[in-house]
Amino acid sequence: MLRFFAIHGGATCLPDWDLILTELNVATMVEDCGPYGVIENAAVAIANGRISWIGARADLPAGSATESRSMGGRWLTPALIDCHTHLVFAGNRSAEFEQRLAGASYEEIARAGGGIMSTVNATRAASADLLLEQTAARLDILRAEGCATVEIKSGYGLNLQTELKLLETIRALKNQAGISISSTFLGAHAIPVEFRGKADEYIDLVCDEMLPAVHEKQLADAVDAYCESIAFSVKQIGRVFETARSLGLPVKLHADQLSDCGGAELAAEFGALSADHLEYTSAKGVDALAAAGSVAVLLPGAFLTLGETECPPVALLRDRNVPIAIATDCNPGTSPICSLRTTMALATSLFRLTPAECLAGVTRNAAVALGLEQDRGTLETGKRADIAIWDIGHPQELSYWIGKNDLAELLVAGRTA
Ligand code: NIG
Ligand code: FE
Repeated sequence: MLRFFAIHGGATCLPDWDLILTELNVATMVEDCGPYGVIENAAVAIANGRISWIGARADLPAGSATESRSMGGRWLTPALIDCHTHLVFAGNRSAEFEQRLAGASYEEIARAGGGIMSTVNATRAASADLLLEQTAARLDILRAEGCATVEIKSGYGLNLQTELKLLETIRALKNQAGISISSTFLGAHAIPVEFRGKADEYIDLVCDEMLPAVHEKQLADAVDAYCESIAFSVKQIGRVFETARSLGLPVKLHADQLSDCGGAELAAEFGALSADHLEYTSAKGVDALAAAGSVAVLLPGAFLTLGETECPPVALLRDRNVPIAIATDCNPGTSPICSLRTTMALATSLFRLTPAECLAGVTRNAAVALGLEQDRGTLETGKRADIAIWDIGHPQELSYWIGKNDLAELLVAGRTA
C-alpha cells in the first residue's frame, strides 16, 4: 500500500484507491470548462473501476493506493466512443465502389438490387462463427485506437432469423470484446427483395414479429431505421417507433442523408437519442432536434465515400446548441472506414468542425447519443474510468494526424484493455 502525502493533513479516514495516475495532463471534456476542460499537471485516482478523484496534482488529498503510476507527461482523455457503426456484415462492396467511381449513383445501384441488399445476401449466407470472427477483428481495430465503447447495428439480415443471428453476434461480443458495446436493432434498414413493392408488409413483420422477439430476448439497447426514398417513409418508420416506444426501447434514425424527407422532425417527435447523417436537414429539422434534446450524429466517412457535396447544417446546429457527435458509420457500402481518429480528421476538413468539437463528438456527445452520459464521455468523479492515454503534445493533435496511432494505453473501468 502506497501512502500519498497528506497535503491537507489531519484526515482521520483517508481515501483508499486502487490506482493513482500522476505526471499527466487531462482533457476532461467536461462542458463549460473551456473547449477541452484541460487540467495540466493533474492526477487521477481510481477505485472500483471509477474515477474517485481528478484534479491538479497539487490538490490531491492524502490517501493510500495499491498502485501508483507516472504517465510521463502524457495526455489523458475520455476513452473514445464510436456511436454509429454497422460492424456486423459479411463480404464487401468494392465492386460497387468501382461502379460508383464510373458514374453510377448509390440510389441507382440500390434500386437495381445492389447496395444494402447485396450485403444482406452475403450476410444471410455467412455462418455465425464467421460473422463473430470478422466483427471481432473490426472491433479490435477500433479499440487499438482508443475506443472503449462502440455501438453496433444489425440491419443486414432483414428477416427474423438473420436479424437475430446478427444481434446474437453482437451479444457474444459484449461478453468477449473487453470493451463496451451498445446493440441497436435496425430491421427497417432496407426493403428486402422478397418484399419488393410491399414495404408496408415488411414493416408489419418488423413491428409484429421482429421487434417483440428482439425485445423478449433482450437483444437490443435501441431501435434505428432508415428514412429515405430508397428505404422507408416517415409514416412507416412512425409505426416502427411507436412499437419501440410501447416496448420501452429508445430510438434513433438515419435521417436526411440523401434528401430532406423530414427525418430530423420524425426523430425529434419520438424523442430520439440521435438523428444521424443530416446532410439535407432543414432549419425546421434542426429546431426540432434542439427542442427534443436529440444529438446530431455526423458521419463524414459516408459523406466522403458517396462524393456528397451537401454538408450537414453545422452552423445551425451550433447556433441552436444541438450536441454534435461524429462516428465512423463503418459499413461496406457507404463508409468503409474503420478508424474513428481518421473520422475526426475528416470532420475537420469536410464539415469544418473544430478539433475540440471533434473530440467532444467522440466522447461527451457520443455518450449522450447512446444514453450513457451518466457513466461515460467525460473524465469526472463518479464516472467509469474509461480513459485513453496519448503520446501527444495537445489534444488538438487527435483531429490532426491521419494514420498515426498515438494511443499509449487504453483503460476500461480502470484496467488496461
Ligand atoms: O449509414 N444509410 C443507410 N445505411 C448505411 C449504409 C448501409 C449500406 O450501404 O450498406 C449508412 O450509410
Ligand atoms: Fe449508418
